[in-house]
Amino acid sequence: MLLLLQLVKIDIPEPPKATAADEIKAPKQVMALLKRSCYDCHSNTTKWPWYSDIAPISFEVRGHVKDGRTWLNFAIWNQYDEEKKQKRLKGIVKTIDIKMPLPSYIMAHPEANLNRDERESIKKWAQSQIKE
Ligand code: HEC
Repeated sequence: MLLLLQLVKIDIPEPPKATAADEIKAPKQVMALLKRSCYDCHSNTTKWPWYSDIAPISFEVRGHVKDGRTWLNFAIWNQYDEEKKQKRLKGIVKTIDIKMPLPSYIMAHPEANLNRDERESIKKWAQSQIKE
């Protein structure tokens, strides 16, 4: 069964085209946190772990990257209109304390975990970008 599963490939669509100007801009310290903890799923520069080729883990990992990019892609941030940016910023404020990064991801990438201060600085930055 597991061997047969290896034949199933999940195709990740090509990442959307992006120029350097499309990438989100944030203070250096916040950028470093986003890159460390969010970019694997929310950017075009995913570092695929070795197990991302082994089914059935591959289904989960690839699914996360696919959905993660669709939801929020920091590499194409400036292609979003203002309304979408505002929605995603509010999403960050809502999810940063508990949901993101995904707990299953933190288990495999302990270095991506964020401590309370780090979560707080991402949150403060996102709040500062929210209008009204
Ligand atoms: C392992 C992959 C992964 C990592 C790492 C990750 N995310 Fe996500 N993220 C997802 C997926 C998948 C979704 C899609 C919806 C869901 O599962 O909630 C998502 C959805 C979101 C959303 C939209 C949720 C909403 O309700 O608006 C926000 C905002 C978000 N992520 C922020 C972050 C931030 C900030 C980080 C880094 C601190 C991060 N994510 C790290 C996979 C990831």
